[in-house]
Amino acid sequence: MQTISLRLSKPHPAQAVVLAEARRFNVLVAGRRFGKSRFGIRLAADKLLAGHPVAWCSPTYKMLGELWREIVETLKCVTKVKNESEHRLELITGGVLDMWSLDAPDSIRGRHYARVIVDEAAMVVDLMDVWNLILRATLIDLEGDVFFLSTPKGRNAFMAMYEQGVSAAYEDWAGWQFPTAANPYILESEITSMRQTMPARAYEQEIEARFIDEVSGALWKLALIDAYRVVKAPELARVVVAIDPAVTANPDSDETGIIAGGLGHDDHGYVLADASGTYSPAEWAHKAVAQYDSLHADRIVAEVNNGGDLVRANLQAVRASVAYRAVHASRGKVVRAEPIAALYEQGRIHHVGRFPDLETQMTTWSPVDDKHSPDRVDALVWLMSELVLRRVKPGPALGRTAA
Ligand SMILES: Nc1ncnc2c1ncn2[C@@H]1O[C@H](COP(=O)(O)OP(=O)(O)OP(=O)(O)O)[C@@H](O)[C@H]1O
Ligand SMILES: [Mg+2]
Repeated sequence: MQTISLRLSKPHPAQAVVLAEARRFNVLVAGRRFGKSRFGIRLAADKLLAGHPVAWCSPTYKMLGELWREIVETLKCVTKVKNESEHRLELITGGVLDMWSLDAPDSIRGRHYARVIVDEAAMVVDLMDVWNLILRATLIDLEGDVFFLSTPKGRNAFMAMYEQGVSAAYEDWAGWQFPTAANPYILESEITSMRQTMPARAYEQEIEARFIDEVSGALWKLALIDAYRVVKAPELARVVVAIDPAVTANPDSDETGIIAGGLGHDDHGYVLADASGTYSPAEWAHKAVAQYDSLHADRIVAEVNNGGDLVRANLQAVRASVAYRAVHASRGKVVRAEPIAALYEQGRIHHVGRFPDLETQMTTWSPVDDKHSPDRVDALVWLMSELVLRRVKPGPALGRTAA
């Protein structure tokens, strides 16, 4: 008997996580050079070597061509028939690989696969239709699975797919998000150099694998935040931690926004930290007090519309002596946010370093389309309202009367 060995890369740790956690419908969001295609080839090979039919889908004919060459090379010692014009490989195991370009997806109708790989899915035109109307049916007969692999391209259908992947409501779906840096074969110095040279939004999308968008109605533009970003805060006259507490804490509940910042002697506001997350009330109180301590803050402010005295009780349970002020939202969120956006436009607010989650929310929330502002933005608005807008202007000295 003849033994043939095939050289497939051993999955790196992040790829191994996906392999271990995969379900039937899988969405992998990852930065450029993460190893998406290499991983896809591995996934295809696993089924092909077991004798099953597999489809590889690329968004365009050109991208298909590049992967075809790589796959042909990888599988050449187990290939029985290679059909160059149809991009089809028949292996000695009985496995058959069809490679399709999704700029003409209709040709796939009527096929049956044990696995479908969609590489760079975010670039597929009409991705949801291609999936629902064409690809899904190819998985019925063999109870096949599917892997969508891609770097994000704005907040498009691929994002909706990823949200489905991570939602507890879709049991058959799984989703993951990894930055380029999760590939141990990429030099750290490359990542650092890209962070320094790429536009911030491009870096966020391509390397950090975040879903971003320049939303037309957004109150903030990343270019504006970038323009006044600083690496170090000056000496600060006052430091505040602002909290926008979530009402309940379960995996689908809102985040609690916790943003800390200071007021400089130049009367400019400086964003110092973002400790927001999905927390229980006890957790957010601990997080906020930890920020309060580490920044030697003067005060914590928190919106109490949702929790009343609970917010104070929560904070005091962690630290009885905490300096705290409740703030009430008497005006709408947009009305409160606009003056803060104006301060940014005047160059009076500076981010000390980068806050990707906060900045993504700032630049993607469009008050016109969505009255419900995101939690980090709410906390930021409270913070800067307290620090910069509510700043007590030096009045006439006591004991002196106007002449
Ligand atoms: N498991 C692995 N073992 C060894 N090298 C790997 C592994 N996974 C990825 N690589 C290497 O990392 C690099 C990027 O891999 P690949 O082209 O698959 O990434 P990609 O995410 O598809 O990139 P792109 O965004 O350019 O399409 C390649 O040099 C590849 O050889
Ligand atoms: Mg690739």
